[in-house]
This record gives sequence, structure tokens and C-alpha cells, in this order.
Amino acid sequence: MKIGILTSGGDSPGMNAAIRAAVRTAKDRNIQVIGFIQGLKGILDNRFIELDDRSVSGIIEKGGTILQSSREPRFLEYEYRKLAYERLNSLGIEWLIIIGGNGSFKAAHKFLSESTIKVVGITGTIDNDIYGTEYTLGYDTALNTATEAIDKIRDTAFSFGRIFIVEVMGRDYGLLPLDIALATGSELVLIPEYRIPLDVIAQKIHIYKTKGKKHVIIVLSEGYCSAFELEKELAPLLKQYNPEYELKICVLGHIQRGGSPTAYDRIFGTLCGQKSIELITTNQNGYFLGLKDNKIQPIEIELAVKNKKTLEHKLISTLEEISIW
Ligand code: F6P
Repeated sequence: MKIGILTSGGDSPGMNAAIRAAVRTAKDRNIQVIGFIQGLKGILDNRFIELDDRSVSGIIEKGGTILQSSREPRFLEYEYRKLAYERLNSLGIEWLIIIGGNGSFKAAHKFLSESTIKVVGITGTIDNDIYGTEYTLGYDTALNTATEAIDKIRDTAFSFGRIFIVEVMGRDYGLLPLDIALATGSELVLIPEYRIPLDVIAQKIHIYKTKGKKHVIIVLSEGYCSAFELEKELAPLLKQYNPEYELKICVLGHIQRGGSPTAYDRIFGTLCGQKSIELITTNQNGYFLGLKDNKIQPIEIELAVKNKKTLEHKLISTLEEISIW
């Protein structure tokens, strides 16, 4: 049997562990593995390599993805998708392992509904925003990276008594920013699911300061607004309370997405990679490997594509408690 594997959309730490485990398990079962370069783009541009045991050596600790990734706009057009299906058929590929986030799962769903190619999904996104799973590969590393960065920011914020806005990734799902704020003991967290009027934000900061807090850290989700927009509107309000209040910005951005995966992501990636081959050998088409009740389980790709993950209510209550003076 011949299968394909690709990583698509925003890379996430742990993708290499998943590739490595899938390739090694496949080899053990005499399955030939073709790795497409830069995700769906690699199928369209005929760029692929054969993967064997040795080609996945020494990658478990590496961030990013050895197969590289892309967001391929051509795949939105049927004409190109048809070309991709034909390419895979002519290469004799029966199954495709797609590692990625929501956008990649939408593409996976197209394969399932429009072609004869069978698909297994592995979550790969730092956003943890895929419906049906409690965890997505890379989240733990991104959370730890942002935590380390904010610990450093706190040192300098304290020394100068400054107020910092730290903009973090997570698209329009607030879990990552919220967990970052919890892990760093930040004073405020602004996420799309829980909006706070600007004057209330300013008032809170003033109260923190008058209570004797030396610094204030605001974790801002990129999906709420940009740090620059917030700074522009918040600075004058703060100056009204005290002209000496100093507001600084730090945008963590892609720093959060890179770096060596944590032990958790290496293990999660490895287990998903291994199980993806089990789904193939037992002919379970159309599933991705997600975490449910603390177990890695097959979940329908269609379910993930047709639903939107929402933040649990109890997390919003935690946010209310930690955000309010
Ligand atoms: O989906 C992962 C993610 O890192 C998001 O958190 C972020 O909004 C987006 O990708 C950034 O995408 P790009 O790297 O294409 O700018």
C-alpha cells in the first residue's frame, strides 16, 4: 500500500514527532510513505519525497515541520482540487494523512466528499480551536513559550513600574490567551469571547496601581484587536488617571509557534502518528485523532468541520474572577 502525508496551514511544534511515528509505524507494516512538500501545494506542484525510517531520524526535538507547510489558496478552486485528486490517483496513493488545523481539515473534508482518496487527520495547531477534541498538537509548547516570554517581560515591567500589553496568537479562540494569563498571573486578559469596555480596562489598571501593584500585564488576544490599536485608545485614558502611567507593547507573534516541542507534544504527536497508521490498516476513513476523556480517539472530520469550538463557560467564570479587582 502507498500513502501520502503532509503538513498544512500554520506549523505547530510536535508535527515532526507525528511524521516520524507515522513513517516508522508504516514501514513496520510494509506501507510506502510519500511526503508532500509544503502541504497541498506539494501535491499541485508535484513536489514530494519518499520517506523511510532514516529520513525521519533526529527530528522529534525539532520545531516546525520537516515537510514544510503552506496555506494553498488554489485548493479553494475545484479545478485545482480535481488536479490534486488526479495526481494522487496517478501516484497510486490510497490514503492521505493530513496534519493541520481547521483550514486543513476543511481541505480534508473536500477530499472525502469529492474524491476516492481516504483521509486521516492529525490536529496540528497551537490554537486548540478544533471542535470535538480537547487538545491539538503544539498547544502545550506555545503556551509554555508564551509563559516564558511573559515571565521575562514581567522582570522589566516591574523594574520600571510599567503597564505592558502583550499580544498573543490564538486566532479568534480565547483559550490560549486565557491559559497564558493564568500561567503568568497576568492582571488582565482580553479575549474575543469576553469584551471589556475601554474605560473599565483603564479603571482596573488604575485600581491595581493604587493598590500598590508595581506593574500590570495585559494579555491581549490577536482576535480582540491589535496591541497598537489598544495602546492608541488606552494610553490617553490612563494619562487622565495619572500622567506618569507608561504603556508598552510586545507582540509575541510567531515566536509562540516555533521552538522545540515540549515532552507532552512529542508524546502526543508520536501517539497520533502511530494511531493514524492503525486507522489506515483497519480502514477507518474520515477520522482525525483527537483527545476526548483523556484518551486519543478517532473523531469524525466532518464533525470538526461543521461545528465551531466555543470556550467553556467555567473558563469564562475563571476569567471574570481573575480579571476583576
Ligand atoms: O493557526 C495558527 C496561527 O498561528 C494563529 O494563531 C495565527 O492567527 C495564524 O496562525 C497566523 O498565520 P500566519 O503564520 O499565516 O501569519
